[in-house]
Amino acid sequence: MTETIKIESTTADNSADVTAGSKSWFYTDVVKDHFFNPRNLFKTNEEAEGYQYDGMGMVGSPACGDMMKIWIKVGDGRIKDCKWQTFGCASAIASTSMMSVMISENEGMKVEDAMKLKPMDIVKRLGDLPTRKFHCSVLGDKALRAAINDHYEKSGQNDKVEKEKVRVVDHIAKVTDHDIEEAVLEGAVTLEAVQRKTKVGIGNKSCLPEVEQLIRFYKEKYYGAD
Ligand code: FES
Repeated sequence: MTETIKIESTTADNSADVTAGSKSWFYTDVVKDHFFNPRNLFKTNEEAEGYQYDGMGMVGSPACGDMMKIWIKVGDGRIKDCKWQTFGCASAIASTSMMSVMISENEGMKVEDAMKLKPMDIVKRLGDLPTRKFHCSVLGDKALRAAINDHYEKSGQNDKVEKEKVRVVDHIAKVTDHDIEEAVLEGAVTLEAVQRKTKVGIGNKSCLPEVEQLIRFYKEKYYGAD
């Protein structure tokens, strides 16, 4: 995979959907540092091809179509090394660079703790991230979980594998819990905003209590409690 770097425009945010987390369009110095000097990034395919890893995970973002690939080395139940490549934007590069540092610093994070790492933990170490870019920080985090699952499968620890299940919440509009999650990650944190993005519950009002519960759950997960 060839890594590409996009510089995003800094046009003013005119969306009424963005009501959670940071509304800033400015990047912190830490974000800029990790974007311009990404840590643990494979700069060439040759580097990636020669790497001996214990787990590899690759995911795509439904929100933007970008891709992320993560490789990990594991020793004594800890992440000893983490490498990555992405087609993602500046925010994805900065947040994955920071994530790779967080899980491999100080002798390495325990694998089970790395599995529970939240995008919010990474955003805090970055100082902040514009709300609309939160879905970019989730990309590295999801690829990491896929890499850890791959490691568990390769090492015969199948009982520890945590696969994400998709559940349809509105059978008429065919909207899943993942669609709600993506809408929240794009900054839609009210029922009305989520409905504008997904059409959930328009022809099936019986699912609305569950939709509101999911919005609350994902809002707290990605943006913290009110
Ligand atoms: Fe796709 Fe950021 S816009 S990863």
